[in-house]
Amino acid sequence: MAGGPEPGMIRACTLERLDAVGLVRLRLMGRPVGILRTSAGAPVARELSCKHQGADLSTGDRVGCIITCSRHGWRYDLATGECLLPTGAPPLREHAVAVQDGAVWISLLPCDAEEPTG
Ligand code: FES
Repeated sequence: MAGGPEPGMIRACTLERLDAVGLVRLRLMGRPVGILRTSAGAPVARELSCKHQGADLSTGDRVGCIITCSRHGWRYDLATGECLLPTGAPPLREHAVAVQDGAVWISLLPCDAEEPTG
């Protein structure tokens, strides 16, 4: 994360709100996305659609950056996007983030393309 917002980004929340709630949930293009701080303090934005069957991860249990899907228990690290349980599942995609004047901006689209399905 460096510099201010770029074209294609929207203002998502303030840093004050992020620090107050821990995980800011929103919907982009109809999909759930979450913003939180990593253990190093940097804001990160991740899709919150479970890679198993697409459940909204924002309804899952979260401890720090680790979130567990409420439907069947898949577990993810929101800081990295890695699926921790089971291992080897596709990661959660990241949205680019910028911070300017106390506001968090995120890209409407994920940084990487949708992985092939089927
Ligand atoms: S839909 Fe998330 S674990 Fe099945």
